[in-house]
Amino acid sequence: MAERIKRVKELAGLTDEEVDVIYSMNGLKREVADRMIENVIGAIQIPLGIATNFVINGKEYAIPMAIEEPSVVAAASNAAKMARARGGFYAIATRPLMVAQIQTMGVADPFAAVQRVLAQRDEILHICNDTNPTLVKVGGGAVDVEARVLDSKRGQMLIVEVTADCRDAMGANTVNTMAETVAPLIESLTGGRVRLRILTNLATKRMARAWAIFDKESLGGEDVVEGILDAYAFAEADPYRCATHNKGIMNGISSVALATGNDTRAIEAGAHSYAARSGHYSSLTKYERNTNGDLVGSIELPIASGILGGATSTHPVAKAAIKILRVKSAQELACVMASAGLAQNLAALRALATEGISKGHMKLHARNLAVMAGAPPDLIAKVVEEIEKEPKVTFDKVVEIVKKLKGQ
Ligand code: MEV
Repeated sequence: MAERIKRVKELAGLTDEEVDVIYSMNGLKREVADRMIENVIGAIQIPLGIATNFVINGKEYAIPMAIEEPSVVAAASNAAKMARARGGFYAIATRPLMVAQIQTMGVADPFAAVQRVLAQRDEILHICNDTNPTLVKVGGGAVDVEARVLDSKRGQMLIVEVTADCRDAMGANTVNTMAETVAPLIESLTGGRVRLRILTNLATKRMARAWAIFDKESLGGEDVVEGILDAYAFAEADPYRCATHNKGIMNGISSVALATGNDTRAIEAGAHSYAARSGHYSSLTKYERNTNGDLVGSIELPIASGILGGATSTHPVAKAAIKILRVKSAQELACVMASAGLAQNLAALRALATEGISKGHMKLHARNLAVMAGAPPDLIAKVVEEIEKEPKVTFDKVVEIVKKLKGQ
């Protein structure tokens, strides 16, 4: 670990203080944690690893991932290495647009009310932008207003949606404040009563896309390509498989989100609701073969990520993670997350379509198993060595190995 953090320090130009907050594993001060959430009693630590080999849009990245699961960081790094042969990942992210919804009940003439709201577009945008002049100054702010009538179990309701460019923030607070502030005007325009004023996590105006070519030789040949295409087809056809397939994608995305202090649940809600948008829950990635016979993978999902505000600005480890990533905008971070998701998925499908997940997983999990089976620190390496000799690893077997070595 000491050697790794030294290398990351050099690579990212971290200060001694930044190295300390990461490496001491004690980066979050009590006072900071106590201000972040309520009823704080402590903090739980999750390992922070660095995924290597990533080239995205021609730029090299060391990607911090916070995750408790073994093999995810290794798998992402491995897939990124395979993508390098054909230039790595290419990624784009749209303008960082978030939408807030204003639910209006009891409107007598909802269709005409839609028109009255749209006619006041400029005034609505003006009120919204007055809530955040700084955002407007840096090129963001409310940019659009939409309104529609929604049929529901409680009858018709009028939904007004305000779209705002949140620049480098995730933007939840920004758009929620806009929605709350403009609500009285919506009530007077519609004659209805405003209830909810909240963003949507299905952020389809804030999309991230990435693609990469994995050449068949790096993947292990024709049959591996076939196997990955079969695995992809399985996910597209069956929601039970697809949930796990997309979970693997989120292993990559959520771990970068967590490392950088982003709202993992918001990104996950957006991803899964996007995957289900047609009414059939489907894959966030797609795979096809190009004329060369190589595998082309692509991914598309909404990613509301930020590099400013919230925990990204208050958690010292998250701040250092953003520095390690060297991302300059929320859009660039979304490109990294999408690429990490695609890499993770490719690695999982390749493993599943060939040797299976358990072998590699168990190998990387060996140290955990040794600890769980009661191996003292000085015996862990030896236990792992013994586990690796086993053709089939079970926990009982590990317990047996630990007992035997302890006896010696
Ligand atoms: C495990 O965390 C993720 C996988 O289950 C993903 C997949 O099945 O595609 C391996």
